Amino acid sequence: MSELALFGGTPAVTNPPVERWVQVNDEVKAAVNALLDQGVVSIGGPTGVIGDFEAAFAAMTGSRYALAMNSGTATLHSAYFAVGVGPGDEVLCPAYTWHASATPIIHCAATPVFCDIRPESLTIDPDDVERRITKRTKALCVVHVFGNVCDMDRLCDIAHRHNLALIEDASHAHGALWKGKPVGSFGPVGCFSMQGGKAVSGGEAGVAITDDPEVLDRMILLGHFGRPRRGVLEVVNTIGDMSLGAKYRAHPWAIAMASVGLKRLPELNARRTANYEFLNDRLRGCPGLEVIDALPGATRAGYLELKFKLTREAVQTASRERIVEAMHAEGAPVTADRYSDLNFTYGLLHAAPLFTTVDRRTLGGCFYDPTGSDVPARPSLPVAEDLNQRLVSLPAFIDVTRESLAEVAAAMRKVMQRLGELAD
Ligand SMILES: Cc1ncc(COP(=O)(O)O)c(C=O)c1O
Repeated sequence: MSELALFGGTPAVTNPPVERWVQVNDEVKAAVNALLDQGVVSIGGPTGVIGDFEAAFAAMTGSRYALAMNSGTATLHSAYFAVGVGPGDEVLCPAYTWHASATPIIHCAATPVFCDIRPESLTIDPDDVERRITKRTKALCVVHVFGNVCDMDRLCDIAHRHNLALIEDASHAHGALWKGKPVGSFGPVGCFSMQGGKAVSGGEAGVAITDDPEVLDRMILLGHFGRPRRGVLEVVNTIGDMSLGAKYRAHPWAIAMASVGLKRLPELNARRTANYEFLNDRLRGCPGLEVIDALPGATRAGYLELKFKLTREAVQTASRERIVEAMHAEGAPVTADRYSDLNFTYGLLHAAPLFTTVDRRTLGGCFYDPTGSDVPARPSLPVAEDLNQRLVSLPAFIDVTRESLAEVAAAMRKVMQRLGELAD
């Protein structure tokens, strides 16, 4: 085996993975152009491209209703609002996620309570969830982070026994299943971001699903003035066309793009999964590195990014950043995981100033819990704190050659086999 490329050796990757799948393809352009040609710039109800998309998304998730919105964050705010999260309430959610899983809890003047994760799946730990339930706990947000499906048997059981509203943040898991049932469909509301590189994307968009017409009405009440309601709630029948003023309506051009992505979701998920499994199989047993398998019962999908764990011993020998640098030099597009407490743009949330040290009253508005406990002491979450320093990522490849994936795996192996040379 040649010397590490970091020290002048020949890079292991001769054929770098070039993603040939194009998100904004001709079909997306045609769909958006068709709306431009028709002069369609805004749709206020479940009609046209919005109605068609909502029907297709509801069908994909086996839900009665889908409500398109302008972001995943908007769907989460709508979900917490719709299930009645309010001042003085606590909402459990994982520390290892994007901050938008939790910030909308603050918009409801409630308090996020962060929970630890399971090392084998990176998803919220049901045992820790149960430990953190108090009289004030109103809801439980679970996140199928990077396509890893949570243990929905345990979490549904906990939500049921403690009368908690279960919100699923499935922003990284479009099309994933737990024991054959689509993620997002287990509790009163499922939320999906459709931003950027998500598996179904409108550039900036989101979609919420529910079976409950009251929940749908409340989501419409919050952010969709002028949209017809199911009319099952007294209040929505009395306020006419108005809403509470958060405007969460989706842009039809974004939904036109998302509709194209939704049609190809099964095919693209199959490709992402096959590529991840190929890499995992090549890396299984690699010294200092562990692959992340789906929990039994889970069918992963969406992903956004592919995760791998460095062992504790490996990062004691050389820092994750040094390992990533060496893998990069070999030509493998590996990055350090971005949900790290070193970077408060991305997490870990229980350590971030917004959730620990900032007195939100000083920010103005009503984004604090007036009952006075909105900045709880930083909890100790040993698994998340340990793991987030040891995770590395690859892009969720769709259309790359097997040869170049094999080279990426070989490059990662090469670095891990020569780890001692990277010791500080
Ligand atoms: C897990 C998770 N939840 C929520 C969001 C928020 O979605 P959006 O950016 O569409 O508002 C994101 C965005 O990346 C996310 O990754």
